[in-house]
Amino acid sequence: MGGASPRLYSAACERNKGPILEVLRSHLVKSPRLPARILELACGSGQHCAFLAGHLAKDGLVQRWFPTDLGISEKRSSVEGYVTEEPGASDVVELPARELDASQEAWAEEVKDLQLTDIYVSNLTHISPWEATVGLLSGAGKVLPPQGLVIIYGPFKVDFNHTSESNAAFDESLQSRDPRWGYRDVSEIEEEASKHGLELVQTISMPANNKTLLLRKG
Ligand SMILES: C[S@@+](CC[C@H](N)C(=O)[O-])C[C@H]1O[C@@H](n2cnc3c(N)ncnc32)[C@H](O)[C@@H]1O
Repeated sequence: MGGASPRLYSAACERNKGPILEVLRSHLVKSPRLPARILELACGSGQHCAFLAGHLAKDGLVQRWFPTDLGISEKRSSVEGYVTEEPGASDVVELPARELDASQEAWAEEVKDLQLTDIYVSNLTHISPWEATVGLLSGAGKVLPPQGLVIIYGPFKVDFNHTSESNAAFDESLQSRDPRWGYRDVSEIEEEASKHGLELVQTISMPANNKTLLLRKG
């Protein structure tokens, strides 16, 4: 991310936002609660939030999208910049974006009045300590209604193996930056999710050896 404008920039976001939109569209359309009210954790620059919310609102699939992140004060103007420029996004995205630390279980209490239907998060589980993933899943188990989805995009290991050499190299570089970071195995997410009333219902292969995990509240 970088650049002279107040907007942060992630090239990966530009590449993966289209495929992620298709996944969200095809699964939200089957939801029992539409239009959706989606909480986004770890929203980063705001590129996903603006693009996804703007397009899903046009389809009538989203009523409200709540972007949040840890250290949001450094990202708020970026999120606002993307949302303002994306047609339709300003009508549904709640600004300013909120501060939310996924590793603190108290977050669920703070958002309990938002009538959330689903949760979306991308590229958090490998670039944070395991506690952030545990907090994400335990909070989701508390705030979501039955059938609510947790949609987690990112790179994961399968059967404790990397799915590509570039993923193995990136995982190693992450762990050398912070030993608490690193790729999670799909089975670890599935096992932790089950403790919080969430079932892994689908693992979707995405471009560039990434995955989308779809978890559903029972
Ligand atoms: C690689 S960025 C991903 C941003 C965006 N979702 C994307 O896919 O481009 C990782 C994000 O995780 C956030 N993050 C790290 N630890 C967190 C935590 N405990 N709670 C919430 N967000 C966290 C960081 O602030 C950062 O915005």
